[in-house]
Amino acid sequence: MKDELFFEGLDPKELIADYGSPLYVYNERVFRARCREIKNLVSYPAFSVNYSVKANNNLSLLRIAHEEGLMADAMSPGEIYVEEKAGYGLDEIFYISNNVSTEEMAFAVQRGIVVSIDSLSQLRRFGRTFPGARASLRINSGVGAGHSDKVVTGGKKTKFAVSLDQLDEARNIIRGTGIRLVGINQHIGSFFLDGEIYLEGVRALLDVAKDFPDLDFIDLGGGFGMPYDVKTQHRLDLNELGRRLDELFYAFAGSYGRQVRFKVEPGRYISAESAVLLGTVHAVKENAGHLYCGTDIGFNVLIRPVLYDAYHEIETWPHRPEAPQKPFTVVGNICESGDILAKDREMPVMEEGDLVIVHDAGAYCYSMASNYNNRLRPAEVLIREDGSVRLIRRRDTLEDLIRNFE
Ligand code: LLP
Repeated sequence: MKDELFFEGLDPKELIADYGSPLYVYNERVFRARCREIKNLVSYPAFSVNYSVKANNNLSLLRIAHEEGLMADAMSPGEIYVEEKAGYGLDEIFYISNNVSTEEMAFAVQRGIVVSIDSLSQLRRFGRTFPGARASLRINSGVGAGHSDKVVTGGKKTKFAVSLDQLDEARNIIRGTGIRLVGINQHIGSFFLDGEIYLEGVRALLDVAKDFPDLDFIDLGGGFGMPYDVKTQHRLDLNELGRRLDELFYAFAGSYGRQVRFKVEPGRYISAESAVLLGTVHAVKENAGHLYCGTDIGFNVLIRPVLYDAYHEIETWPHRPEAPQKPFTVVGNICESGDILAKDREMPVMEEGDLVIVHDAGAYCYSMASNYNNRLRPAEVLIREDGSVRLIRRRDTLEDLIRNFE
């Protein structure tokens, strides 16, 4: 049974009793396995994986990813700060800026961290302010992908990157200001299960890269998906994708004339499947013919279904195989009728006090949690490879809610 493997024989009820509900539970074995799969994606030697920590920024997980040989991308000074604390060297961090202030650029430049610049005006400002500094240019090669319009970052209409028709001007700025362009990067968007679209983006980026003769690296971005709904989604074929990437990498390296490093930037693939979110059923009710399962998993704890209509598999604990299955709308405890975790999901009739297990909750779940309604963000625990449990982030306290008030 999937759950028993995940929990390594531990009882979810006991975890809730020890650490409170709701609770994020991580499995170290799964997290490490995903790190290794991506690390071994290709045979091309100059290849590195930047873990995109926006998916999950827990310090303990960052340390594990680092132990596994991953580097990191950062989207903000805050992410840089946490990565430094987790032990990442400054040459292992890549700052992918988007609409940032000069102070934020300086935060990275002063540390010697390479900054990705994603507009012509910011390129001008960067060049003027930090003459001779290293930079990467974020390019929109025209290819986009994603599970929702909200997370497609390449293609036609997007706030990100420099488009192909702006490259001549970018070159002028780089020449004029003396920026050392050491890389180009792109991110087509978040979530693909078919490697073709990623490869299309890679080919388009390599077409750009060949006209920039002094690059140290080419960063292809993230977006690697995993099946949230095993009934309708398949696993991404990493072997095939890796094989095809290798072909492109070796061919490019053969004609480029200097050693170039390829990087990828996965977030979700590394962390999504390494966690479940446990919650408690506090009400089972029928309103105007609709069945509701009322839990303590409000959208302050897990916002993906509300924001993107995202699907997460939900199981009940105990499993109750003998109970009749009925279509439940699973909701949280927040004061908005849109606070819905799953609509009309066939589930066994539960009792108050039962648990729900929300799967694939390791990416963009805790990292997008908030204190809305002055709810406390849950604790996070890690099931270690030896089966022991470690608290890796404590639950908020009531005092935390007033900590920043003057
Ligand atoms: N690189 C850049 C520049 C990015 O903006 C992102 C994600 C990644 C890499 C990592 O993408 P991944 O491998 O995780 O797909 N909150 C949304 C996802 C937002 C993704 C934002 N950027 C969700 O819950 O699905």
